[in-house]
Amino acid sequence: MIDKIITIAKEAGEILRNGFRQDFQIEYKTNSSNLVTEYDKKSEKLIIDFVNKEFPTHSILAEESGRQDNSNEYLWIIDPLDGTTNFAHGLPIFSVSIGVMKSREIIYGVVYDVMRDLIYSAEKRSGAFCNGKKIHVSSNDNLSKSVLVTGFPYNIAENPDKAFERFIAFLKEARAIRRLGSAAIDMCYVAEGVFDGFWEVALNPWDVAAGKLLIEEAGGFVTDFNGFPMNIFDKRLLASNGKIHQHMIKMMNKVEFFE
Ligand code: IPD
Ligand code: CA
Ligand code: CA
Ligand code: CA
Repeated sequence: MIDKIITIAKEAGEILRNGFRQDFQIEYKTNSSNLVTEYDKKSEKLIIDFVNKEFPTHSILAEESGRQDNSNEYLWIIDPLDGTTNFAHGLPIFSVSIGVMKSREIIYGVVYDVMRDLIYSAEKRSGAFCNGKKIHVSSNDNLSKSVLVTGFPYNIAENPDKAFERFIAFLKEARAIRRLGSAAIDMCYVAEGVFDGFWEVALNPWDVAAGKLLIEEAGGFVTDFNGFPMNIFDKRLLASNGKIHQHMIKMMNKVEFFE
């Protein structure tokens, strides 16, 4: 099954690559920061048609078309284009993310980094891979020597869930913070030890389903802001190499209670 997921993620990525920096239609979702292009939809249609054909009993949750319940124990969670703003502005950092749950547990995760042509894949209890090569989280145990990555929701102007305060706190404490614009790619970089940690306050299941499994299979931790198990339907996500996790939780608590 993982091979089939990889194949369809690559095919969807090819659609995106062909559309990149071409003329395309852009629509607004909730506000003028929240875009959807015709390529988000094209990529999503390809993946959904594939699942319906190959696995007609499986259910689907996809960003642009919502949930299709076929009342099977399998659920495909699809982000057809993670990094739409980058894509729409010609920045070559975007991905296709597909996670598959069986009985509420993520068992497969695939992220295709389209412009670098890299497939990140993980199967529950079988490790995490980048283009077939095993990957592992970093071994850095010092937050002040860590490079972290984060992202902001489309309503960031409202400062949801103290997003500004959390960002400032980590800016002061870590070596550096990056904001790439694709949560799925952010998480791949944690899984392969480039970034030491990642957090975000308002994610959706399609942003993180694959990335969560990738990080866990690469030896890292993915929890809520208190260190408790994170459900992909929760909004808050804290991920790290495990070694700086407690320090990051402590900082989340500080923001929560003292600022
Ligand atoms: C967004 C990206 C971004 C993150 C946002 C997501 P989209 O997904 O992953 O990095 O900060 O929270 O909504 O809309 O480009 O699929
Ligand atoms: Ca997304
Ligand atoms: Ca998307
Ligand atoms: Ca979106």
